[in-house]
Amino acid sequence: MSQNESKRLAGEKAIDFVEDGMIVGVGTGSTVAYFIDALARVKDRIAGAVSSSDQSTERLRSHGIEVLDLNATGELSLYVDGADECDPHKRLIKGGGAALTREKIIAEASRKFICIIDPIKQVPVLGKFPLPVEVIPMARSLVARRILAMTGGQPVWRDGVTTDNGNWILDVHNLSIVDPVAVERELNQIPGVVSVGLFARRPADVVIVGGQPPQIL
Ligand code: 5RP
Repeated sequence: MSQNESKRLAGEKAIDFVEDGMIVGVGTGSTVAYFIDALARVKDRIAGAVSSSDQSTERLRSHGIEVLDLNATGELSLYVDGADECDPHKRLIKGGGAALTREKIIAEASRKFICIIDPIKQVPVLGKFPLPVEVIPMARSLVARRILAMTGGQPVWRDGVTTDNGNWILDVHNLSIVDPVAVERELNQIPGVVSVGLFARRPADVVIVGGQPPQIL
């Protein structure tokens, strides 16, 4: 089965968790795009969506799904998003699509976080996928030096990419993250870091791995 087919199956399976009247938190990426397309088929059953990126907002609106402001909705029942890596404890690396900060905000605001992935995202230990860190532009070099000193990982500036929040991304290579909660906490302390693409303190609650049939973990 192709990776895209796995993503489609994971995205469509997540619809089983959508209940009538819900405001659904929506992540970002190619797997989420399949979820949004499936959500469009049940759009009359939901009260709207909260979006984690301009990209997802555009897709939701193109289907006629209302996009709401998180400040107005309060806590959400459900958040559905993809991931770049997922460990056996449902801790994640995210941010391959540079939307990590808004994704983290919505994950925090949601009672249930469903992560939809294709099987190659499953790893025993996080860190093979370069860890995205969103930084305030003026702090880029400072944060890179601190991350190198603290972790030994090699931060690489994602040149040419500006996030929806007007910031920049460092991708940290060559990590093996055995204690993701500690790494998330420590990197978050560096002045200039906006957010770290580790979802360990607030991991996913349910992981759907695309396949025939999809696996629910
Ligand atoms: C965006 C993300 C995505 O969820 C992650 O990059 C996975 O993307 P895809 O579903 O395209 O493989 O974190 O910031």
